[in-house]
Amino acid sequence: VDLAHSNTMALSCVADSVVTLTNEAQLDDFMATYAEDVEHQLSLFVLSGGSNVLLPAALNAVVLQPKMRGIHLTAQTDDYVDIEVMAGENWHDLVVHTVNQGWYGLENLALIPGLTGAAPVQNIGAYGVQLEDCLQYVRAYHLPTQTWHHLSAADCQFDYRDSIFKRTPNTWLISRVAFRLHTDPTHILASYGDVQTVAQRYAEQQEREQANPHDVMQAIIDIRQQKLPDPKQLPNCGSFFQNPIIGQDQFTALQTTYPAIVGYPMPDAMVKVAAGWLIEQAGLKGGGIAPIMTHKHQALVLTNHTPYQATQEDVETAQRYIANIVYEKFAIQLSREPVWVNADGSIGYPEHVV
Ligand code: EPU
Repeated sequence: VDLAHSNTMALSCVADSVVTLTNEAQLDDFMATYAEDVEHQLSLFVLSGGSNVLLPAALNAVVLQPKMRGIHLTAQTDDYVDIEVMAGENWHDLVVHTVNQGWYGLENLALIPGLTGAAPVQNIGAYGVQLEDCLQYVRAYHLPTQTWHHLSAADCQFDYRDSIFKRTPNTWLISRVAFRLHTDPTHILASYGDVQTVAQRYAEQQEREQANPHDVMQAIIDIRQQKLPDPKQLPNCGSFFQNPIIGQDQFTALQTTYPAIVGYPMPDAMVKVAAGWLIEQAGLKGGGIAPIMTHKHQALVLTNHTPYQATQEDVETAQRYIANIVYEKFAIQLSREPVWVNADGSIGYPEHVV
């Protein structure tokens, strides 16, 4: 089965077989048969929207694709609503739907590619909000024991771009994600970058004094469209590197040489450095090793200029080149952000790439 069109990086990939799941019971049925056939067992690999994975050219695994749909209101008060969303719902469509309903909290996460079921895996985050801020629980199937589980937000062990689902790969298949969203239109989070200014402009166009969550969503859509390539036009998998977290001492030392270095203070005397800034200063904005090049408006995003032909090896070549140059210049190691899938379906946990 050809998966080149099922990953937003548009890497060439052919898999042994693909099982599409449109309801939860199908997974129970499939697993009952799969578990019996011990001799011919290929490993299982869960593929959601394909927007944060680097697939191998030949994937010798059974690919499970959760495509269950549905958004269910489970509780409602004057202050909040609880919703349960099936894994196959498109993430951005969900954000727009909730904001249009007057249910707020997800607006800062507008225009993130992919499906809802994958959102908890890397605890998607943007413009000051992370998924964990609104998440209530996840319903997921534990593949090794063939059992369904209810994981609270604490059970998910969220961290920056990380969760139990990412740390123990090929173990969980997420089928539902539940959120508590608030209904107060005056409560917004717009402190990141230009969000406040752009949101305020939208408010004024509507002759409202204060920006509301609709305005914030519009602002974020604008900002993302300016900086981030649309995977349909220029294949990519979003931020390719994590923003590295370094000690305050190293950051202060770097500041003397590079006064403009961008960093955000973190707990325990650590600083999160903007990797896009490091890559740009290393002279690599728009650079790389063809066909894998950094984006001309956001150096943290690697793009594929020969869709459906480029392979995982091409990505690795470019990533090593970029990470090495950044390391030479700043003595900071960049870590890969998207999930690296091996030919047998196992996951290469994001390690340092120098
Ligand atoms: N910067 C540069 N040059 C670049 C890119 C960035 O100098 O080429 C500077 C910017 O000027 C800014 C700082 O770096 O001062 C941060 O840039 P930006 O606001 O674009 O955010 P980011 O840190 O590069 C992170 C997330 C994005 C998310 C944005 C907004 C990670 C790995 N990435 O990027 O997430 O949209 O913040 O919150 O944390 C994704 O994961 O796919 C993704 C796009």
